[in-house]
Amino acid sequence: MNVEPRSMGADGLRQRIEALAPWFHNINLGGIWTAPDHFLGDYPNFKFQRFADHLPEDLGGKTVLDIGCNAGFYSMEMKRRGAERVLGIDSDDRYLAQARLAGEALGYSNIEFRNLDVYDVGTLGEKFDVVIFMGVLYHLRHPLLALDLIHEHVAGDLLIFQSLQRGSKQVLELEEDYEFVETEMFFESGYPKLHFVERQYAHDWTNWWVPNRACAEAMLRASGFTIETRAEDEVYICRRSEMPYADWGKTGAVYPALGPATGRE
Ligand SMILES: C[S@@+](CC[C@H](N)C(=O)[O-])C[C@H]1O[C@@H](n2cnc3c(N)ncnc32)[C@H](O)[C@@H]1O
Repeated sequence: MNVEPRSMGADGLRQRIEALAPWFHNINLGGIWTAPDHFLGDYPNFKFQRFADHLPEDLGGKTVLDIGCNAGFYSMEMKRRGAERVLGIDSDDRYLAQARLAGEALGYSNIEFRNLDVYDVGTLGEKFDVVIFMGVLYHLRHPLLALDLIHEHVAGDLLIFQSLQRGSKQVLELEEDYEFVETEMFFESGYPKLHFVERQYAHDWTNWWVPNRACAEAMLRASGFTIETRAEDEVYICRRSEMPYADWGKTGAVYPALGPATGRE
């Protein structure tokens, strides 16, 4: 994205960009890069270029929810592909202010950016054709709850998912069940593993759980998402499907209680 800023002098724009620093998304706002020294390079553009071709080129008439939108890079890319409605949510007001500034500078004033926690997506009361859930899972203390809530409340069709992954990239073929005495599979590196970070990882105390590849894929399936494509090392294009445990009793997010009418109190 490289567009002339609308109705903002370059000096004024630079001041506003600097006032909201540091930026995690490196976006070119009319010649001024928001995070030119990003530790990952030109992020997230270099990552996006690796999987962009796997996304629908034309999102005309579609609705998009970008969860953990940060400075709105993906929200704006979806709008650029013609999405009718894009809602970006994040729990951090400074990132939301960055997103609003970037949207204003690049002429995407019709994207809505709202402070909302992923655990509260049920309050939206709306399903979206495309849900983007990238770079958030490992920041959550309750990652499977978040996926359950997304499945139950907002995912209408496509889920674009990304998580930091560490550990093995192998994916072990698993049996449906094992005897109590069988333990060897737990020692296999390709068994689904979610690494718990008690203190910090990468100097970031908000990193709580880092899955290996097998675990990221298993968590998606276990939350009712069918993986259609691994579009990049860590990025999956999924389609909402049925929760796989319906035969075992109640399914869906365990929290919050929804009241007697839903059968889930
Ligand atoms: C690593 S950044 C990823 C940003 C963007 N989705 C991307 O992939 O480039 C994580 C973002 O998730 C937001 N976030 C973290 N926990 C959240 C939560 N519980 N609800 C909503 N957003 C959250 C952070 O504020 C941050 O903007």
